[in-house]
Amino acid sequence: MHTESPTLDRLRQRQSIKWRAYPADVIPAWIADMDFAVAPCIRSAMEAVIDRGDLGYPQSYAEAGLNEVFCARALRQYGWSIKPDQVEFFSDVVQTIHLALLTLCEPGDGVIIQTPIYPPFLSAVEETGRRQVHCPLTQTSAGYRMDLAAMAQAIDARTRILLLCHPHNPTGRAYTREELEGLAELVLRDDLRVISDEIHADLMLDPRPHIPFASLSTEIAARTLTLTSPSKPFNVAGLCLAAAVFGSPALARAFNHLPAHVRGGRSALGIAAARAAWTEGDDWLAEMLTQLRANRDRVASFVAAHWPRVRHTPPEATYLSWLDFRDLGLSEEPQRYFLKHAKVALSEGPAFGEEGRGFVRLNFATAPGILDEILGRMDQSLRKGT
Ligand SMILES: Cc1ncc(COP(=O)(O)O)c(C=O)c1O
Repeated sequence: MHTESPTLDRLRQRQSIKWRAYPADVIPAWIADMDFAVAPCIRSAMEAVIDRGDLGYPQSYAEAGLNEVFCARALRQYGWSIKPDQVEFFSDVVQTIHLALLTLCEPGDGVIIQTPIYPPFLSAVEETGRRQVHCPLTQTSAGYRMDLAAMAQAIDARTRILLLCHPHNPTGRAYTREELEGLAELVLRDDLRVISDEIHADLMLDPRPHIPFASLSTEIAARTLTLTSPSKPFNVAGLCLAAAVFGSPALARAFNHLPAHVRGGRSALGIAAARAAWTEGDDWLAEMLTQLRANRDRVASFVAAHWPRVRHTPPEATYLSWLDFRDLGLSEEPQRYFLKHAKVALSEGPAFGEEGRGFVRLNFATAPGILDEILGRMDQSLRKGT
C-alpha cells in the first residue's frame, strides 16, 4: 500500500529518471512521479498479464473494453457524460499535444499558453512551428488568476488554439466554474479550439470536484480536445497510455487524417493497468490523496514558519508546490542553489517560462519523513548561505 513509507534506500534502486538523473547523495523532488508503491489492483492486473505470458500485440483499445471503462469513470468521477466513440488512446499526453497542434491549426498560427507553464507546452508549440501567445497568469496574494482582459488583447486574427492546463502545472490552480465560464466566453467569441490537458484532474486536493472544460456546454465541447492519463494519479507514467476525448466529429475528422502509426503502439501492461485503475483504483486514490493533502499542508506550514519571505500558495490540485524565492536574493537561480548547497533536486522555475525566474517547483509526493529531510536540507542551506 502507498502508506507503507518508501525509504530512500529502496527508492534509489528505481531505474526511473527521477532517481537516476542525480548522484545518490541528492534527494530528487523534481519530475512529476510519486514515490509511493503502485496500487495493489494495478499490480495484480499486471501480474496477471505476465502470468499468462500475454505480452504479444494487444487487441485494440476498444476491443479491450477501455473506451467503455473510461466513459463510465468520467461519469462517476466528474458527472461528465461522453460516449465510447469519442475516446481514443495514445502513448502519452505530450505526444498527443504535438499531434493536436499539427492537425488542429496551421504553421504560424497562434497558440495561447498560460505561463508559468509545464515546459513541454512551450516546446510543443515551438517544435511544431506554431506561435506562442503568452497570456501569463497573474500572481495575487490569494494565488494565481487568469487575466482575461489581457488575454482578449493578446488574441490576434491568427490565434487559433487555447492550450489549457487544468488543473494547472506548476501553480496547482484548479479553476472554478466561474473562471472556466469566463474563459469559455472568450473561446467562443474568438472561435478558438481548445486542447485541454487535464492529466492532474484526479489529483484534486481541495474538497470540490474537477470540472472538465468540455463539460461546460455543448458548444464548448464541440471545440475541445480533452487529454488525460492514469499516469499522474496512479503513478504509472512508464506504462505509456493516454486518453483523448474528441468533443465533436468535426474535431476528430480534423485530427484523424494522421497516419495510424504516428499514434504510437499499444502497451499490454498499459492497457491492463489503465483498466484496473479506472475500475478498481478509486479507493486507493482516495487514500493516497489524504496523504498528499497532509504533505501539502506540511510544506505550507514549513514555509510559513521558516521562510516568511518565500511566497507560496498551497496548491488546490497536483502534488507540486510552486515556491517564489525572489525576495531572498539568492546568489543564483534557486534550483542550482539548492542542488549545490542542499543536495535537493527541484524543477527549475525558468523552464516554465520567464515568469518562473526565481521560482522552483517542489514535488511533495513522497513519504513525510523524506519530505521533512528535503525541507530541512533546504532550510539549512539557506541558514548557511544567506
Ligand atoms: C500538465 C502535464 N501534462 C502532461 C504531462 C506528461 O504526460 P505524459 O507523460 O502522458 O506525456 C505532465 C507530467 O507531469 C503534466 O504535468
